[in-house]
Order: sequence, then C-alpha cells, then structure tokens
Amino acid sequence: NHPPASILFIFGGSGDLNHRKLTPALYNLFLDDWLPEQFLISGIGRSQYDDESFRGHLLDGVKQFSRRKEEINGKWEAFSRHIAYLQMDGDKAEDYQKIARIVHDKTEEWGVRPHVVFYLAVAPQLVPAIASNLGKLDICADKTTSRIVVEKPFGHDLKSARELNTQLRSLFAEEQIFRIDHYLGKETVQNILMMRFANALFEPIWNRNYIDHIQITAIESVGVEGRGGYFEQSGALRDMVQNHILQILCMIAMEAPVSFEANEIRNKNLDVLNALRRYTDAEVAENAVRGQYGAGSNNGKPVLAYRDEKGVAADSNVETYAAARFFIDNWRWQGVPFFVRTGKSLHMKETHVVIQFKSPPHNTFPHEAAENWKSNRLTISIQPNMDIRIRFQVKRPGQTMKLDPVEMAFDYTAAGENAPEAYETLLLDALEGDPTLFMRGDQVEAAWEVIMPILSHWEKNKAADFPNYQPGSWGPLAADQLIEEEDRHWVNVLQS
Ligand code: BG6
Repeated sequence: NHPPASILFIFGGSGDLNHRKLTPALYNLFLDDWLPEQFLISGIGRSQYDDESFRGHLLDGVKQFSRRKEEINGKWEAFSRHIAYLQMDGDKAEDYQKIARIVHDKTEEWGVRPHVVFYLAVAPQLVPAIASNLGKLDICADKTTSRIVVEKPFGHDLKSARELNTQLRSLFAEEQIFRIDHYLGKETVQNILMMRFANALFEPIWNRNYIDHIQITAIESVGVEGRGGYFEQSGALRDMVQNHILQILCMIAMEAPVSFEANEIRNKNLDVLNALRRYTDAEVAENAVRGQYGAGSNNGKPVLAYRDEKGVAADSNVETYAAARFFIDNWRWQGVPFFVRTGKSLHMKETHVVIQFKSPPHNTFPHEAAENWKSNRLTISIQPNMDIRIRFQVKRPGQTMKLDPVEMAFDYTAAGENAPEAYETLLLDALEGDPTLFMRGDQVEAAWEVIMPILSHWEKNKAADFPNYQPGSWGPLAADQLIEEEDRHWVNVLQS
C-alpha cells in the first residue's frame, strides 16, 4: 500500500535538516518502494537554486548521511525527478500563490488532486508567519488532504507553546497538525509498546510492587558543535527532556491502550504527563541537577568549553547537562522514582531505559552462594545498540552452590532487517496522514508544565559552579549523588 498522490513542500528546503535527514530518509523510502508514483518533493527556500543544482545539493547530503550510501548509483536519477525547487519568501503572502499554482499544475498533470504536506523545517520564529500564510490557501481548507508538520522546538516555554497551539488551531484542524518528536519514530522506542502490550509476561509486574526505580539515559559525546546560538536559547532540559525523554517515559509508564488508534495512544500518554509531579520551587533543588562542560578533550579530540563556543555568552548560565528525578502520582507508580539524564560532550553516545526490579522478598540461599547476586534488571537499549536484555540469576555449573547473574538478550540488528531511521517512519506516516507517532497539542503543553518549575528555578538561580564537568566524563558529580543518595547508581550499559 502506497500513500496517495502527494506533494511534500519543505520549508527550509535548502537547510540542514533536509540535507542531513529528510531527503536521505525520503530516498530510502523510495528505494524500498514506499512512495507513490505521483509524488513531488518541493524544496522551498530563499537561496538561489534551480531544480538541477538543488538536486545536486541534496545528493551530496545523501552521500554523506544516508544509511545506504552504497545504493546511490542508478536509483538516484529516478528519484531526483521527483524533486523540484521553489524559490520564495515565506514572509510574502503573494508568494504563496506559487504553491497554489504547483498544486493546480500537478492536479492537471496527474489527473488527481494530490494530498499536500507542508513540512516546516525552519527556525521557530518563522513558523507563525508561514502557518498563517498557508492557512489562507484554499488547499488547506480540506482537513483530510492537507496537513502541516512542525519541527521542534514547539514553543520556548508553556506560554509560547500555548500561543503557538492557539494560532495553529485557528488555521488548521488538530488532525492536520503533525508535531514531530523524532524519537517516536525510532524503531526501538516504538518497540517499547510492542514489548509491553504484546506479551503477558511483563505487565503483571510492571508497577510499584515489583519495580524499584526506572532510569532513562540519553547522553551524547558530541558537544554543541556550532549550534551555540541555538543552544543558548534552549539548554539540555528544553532540547531533550521536554520532548524526547518525557515521550520515552510515557511509553514506559502508560496504561495499556485499548487499541492502537492514534488518539487512544495519545490519551494514555497524556495521562502520564498529567500525573507527573509538578515540583514546587523548593523541590526542584532536591530533584534536578544541571551541568555545563568546560574545556578538555573527548576521544582524543580537543573540546572547547561551552562558554567559548561561537554564539555563547562568556558567563552563560545555560545547562548542557540535565538530570532529574520524576514521580508519577498514580496507583501504578506511586513512590517509584524515574531518574532521567541527558547531556553533551559526555563519555559516549548512548540512549537506553533501565527497569530495575526489587530484590526478592526473602533470601533463601546461604551468604557464600549469593556473593555475586544482583536483582533483576530489564534494559532496553535504544541506540547505538538496539536490544532488550533481562538479567537474572542462575546456578553456576559445578558442585558448589553459587549464584551468578546472566543475561538473556534480544538484539534488534541481529534479527535481520536494517532498521529504518526515525525520519523514514515519520515522513511515511505524515504522507499517509497517520498521527499516532506525533504529538497532540495537549501533550506538548502538559510536557511543558512538567519542566516549567525546573526551568524557572534555574533561570532565577544562576549556577555558581559552571563549568562543572569535563568533556568525556559522565557528567557532574551532583548527578551521581542524586541517584546514589538512595543507594542506587546510574547504569552505563555499554560499559557494564
Ligand atoms: C535533537 C536535539 O532533537 O536530538 C539535538 O536538538 C540532539 O541536540 C538530537 O543531538 C539527538 O538525536 P539522536 O536521534 O541523534 O539521538
């Protein structure tokens, strides 16, 4: 089944996201025969390109960033015939007639009115003007055949997110608005739902009676690398926690959906966000930790201090690392801490979830037998490893009675197929009009509500100890203390 005849308009067509992610993803969809025959990608931008030079620019991106670089020859030519460039100014209302004209011409050529998807891969401050101009086009009046895809960041805080939602909803129906969180497109993130709800094994123990705590780690070895200007407006909490990490947390914590219908999944997800504890100002200090990296080296390469990056203030108070302990105030999770952490310029790139189970209620075995004993742990690795591991105890073979922890593992990559990238899944869903893996407006706002107390506490109280961690380390000491004060510790999967 292919999506219907479609035109994908990409605002920010000559920009970085299209170059690195969108076109390589679309090309993979083409190679796998997911795209309809009647399909046009219209890159929109102010830069000077004609169709030919624009295609060349995108080919260069595919050569650098595609997961299937070796398959470029031969097929690219056929794919590139679906690409065109439209030079226009997103601020000029009259330029939008060019879009209407393209849709009109393609309708004539194809003999069918195509679906239109507007992908806004632009800086957030450009979104309102573009959305408002698009909203005036006749083609956007049809809720089922037109939609708008909005990249993160969705707002800068709760207030601006609400304003943006209000504006978008005045122009489009909610079902036309696709708010991207690319983590939801990752295979291993989606697999959390399959694992939890397609098995009878996990759900009975997936609660406060059996689970001691949960960890979500999404750390990176790269620094801000030239994105200092953006990062100064953002910080790690806004960049990673408000969206990606809270979305993973929802998948881990949600109640069982009745069906896989988009709004059912999103309702269950919203319930978690609504139940997440909103901290008071005093509670923030006890439950959240921030960090900023200084100068040093990582993997043998010198690293500039964050404050020395271009576009960053010399006394910047912006965090490049954030860790927090969250609580979900409902029956299932009462009292179970969810520890999350994220940061730049750390020891390695690694994203995973750890479900740490409680110890058995009674220890049957003699002390000498249980020297190596460790309580059960389920690890879901999202990247770069893509696997699920369960740690449990077995008897060490031999005459003596000794227990050893072992792991049972399912490795996604060993299971065969080369997993599609997040943007492949999400672009295909957007073309098909399936919003399940996109954020609804109320989810985005609830996620902002959760982090607002932390953001405002950090804005009001300057960090006196910045920079407080070394590139290549595991982050600031205070983040270790946050978890260790309860006699727990961060799990570094790739190192354990
Ligand atoms: C983006 C953030 O949303 O996610 C980046 O803005 C971050 O700062 C990136 O590097 C991480 O995504 P991934 O898919 O590489 O884990």
